[in-house]
Amino acid sequence: MSKLSLDRVLQSQGFGTRKYCRALIDDGDVAVNGEVHDNYKTLVETDGLVLTVFDEEWVYREHVYIALYKPSNFECSRKPSHHPGVLTLLPEQFTWRDVQPVGRLDHDTTGLLLMSDDGPFIHAQSSPKRHIPKVYQATTQDPVTQALVDQLLSGVQLHDEPAPLAAQSCVQRDDHQLEIVLEQGKYHQVKRMLAAAGNHCVALHRSQIGELTLESLGLHEGEWCYLEQAQLELLVPG
Ligand code: URA
Repeated sequence: MSKLSLDRVLQSQGFGTRKYCRALIDDGDVAVNGEVHDNYKTLVETDGLVLTVFDEEWVYREHVYIALYKPSNFECSRKPSHHPGVLTLLPEQFTWRDVQPVGRLDHDTTGLLLMSDDGPFIHAQSSPKRHIPKVYQATTQDPVTQALVDQLLSGVQLHDEPAPLAAQSCVQRDDHQLEIVLEQGKYHQVKRMLAAAGNHCVALHRSQIGELTLESLGLHEGEWCYLEQAQLELLVPG
């Protein structure tokens, strides 16, 4: 159980600066569990709290864990340069809460992207030591051959890597389609591994992280959802 003043609660949920949050409360735009409160000093129990701000309901969350179906032509970087950032696909509150992508997908890669404002969670999920398998569908420029599959499974040497990197699994899905499972999460890893093996990746999609599949979330491109505890427990090392 923890109690916070209403202005702090609103600020923690990403509704803006403390000053702005106080103004929202003063103006009667904020309800706590359905009841309008216009005193920003009101102490509010955060457990089970539902805020209503401008008639929209928000369940209080100490941290947010989000899955986004990333479309192509969005950048994961904090300061996007050529395309809009992935944060533009989420409500503005999440930018105020400092939600960040967990790892990165290239601007032209589609699929499952995790996002959160929980620093230790981001750190743990992105740590190379955790070996969380990630499943990718890669479309190749040249036809897939058994030799390509074998090479990706036995390991390919990338520039600036001390040792060859191997796919945990690699299965041909079609003439120009591979399903690759990687544990390492190095920069441009799928594309660089395919290039090192003599082919070229023309499209890339991530369908799964740990045991969490994009399909199970029922998202369409550009859509997002909160991840609850049971789904977070699927983000496990292989
Ligand atoms: N590997 C890549 O090459 N790009 C991605 O976006 C993800 C993995």
